[in-house]
Amino acid sequence: MNSASGVQFAITKIEKMTESDNIPKINKGSVPRHVAIIMDGNGRWARQRMQGRSEGHAEGVNSVHNITQAASDCGIKYLTLYAFSTENWARPAEEVDTLMHLIGWAIRKETPELKANNVHINLIGDISRLPEQVQADLRAGCEATKDCDGLNLNLCLSYSSRWELTRAVREIARLAAEGALNPDDISESAFEQYLSTSQFPDPDLLIRTGGEQRLSNFLLWQAAYSELYFTPTLWPDFSKEEFFGILEDFSHRERRFGKTSDQVNAPTQI
Ligand code: FPP
Repeated sequence: MNSASGVQFAITKIEKMTESDNIPKINKGSVPRHVAIIMDGNGRWARQRMQGRSEGHAEGVNSVHNITQAASDCGIKYLTLYAFSTENWARPAEEVDTLMHLIGWAIRKETPELKANNVHINLIGDISRLPEQVQADLRAGCEATKDCDGLNLNLCLSYSSRWELTRAVREIARLAAEGALNPDDISESAFEQYLSTSQFPDPDLLIRTGGEQRLSNFLLWQAAYSELYFTPTLWPDFSKEEFFGILEDFSHRERRFGKTSDQVNAPTQI
């Protein structure tokens, strides 16, 4: 099966499936504001079923749909998905082509429902490297949802932290060389203004599916104090129920940001 017909087969199959809604029983006060996810395991999911990697990626889109819905339902304000890394450009051309097709198709298909659910689509990464048509589909999705003020769905495409940090440093160096920026004024918060995520808070919770325990060049600056959760579940099998279970686990973690437990739990002075 060539990549285009593989994708079409898989798309037809997933159009028939969506998970039933299970509204979570999560204490509103402990819901993370920002969840970031490394969606891993599509290829292994497909291999386990003797299918091509395209089918795994297409099933992965189904999980994107379900988890976006779940995040929106439980009041998460930012969901950042690592959909295509800078390093993914080095995959076989056929797989890259499949992924690009899928991303464009998924955004066209999902935009009306995202808009109806008040979800605002944002893009992070070197979008100019994507095929023109996919860029146009993505821009149309962003434009259609620009007034939505519910969940922010941040799609990281052609993104990596080293790309982002290098770009930031290059811009800062250029401004300093022109005399437009004093190096002494570069604080952590000033530096963050040059990152692609400058308008978003840092992720509170970073989840990686697929069993690997590494960050793979994802939000390295922003994840400095994120709670990490690694699950062996392959991304196409990642369900709303597991997602809600991880939110429950997160609600029991003590975030100290370098302080002591006593300091964090001290009653606040009025
Ligand atoms: C990692 O699995 C997954 C990817 C590189 C692509 C993820 C992309 C999607 C699910 C489509 C996203 C679409 C939208 C609209 C956001 P892998 O291929 O590395 O799996 P493996 O480790 O098992 O080989």
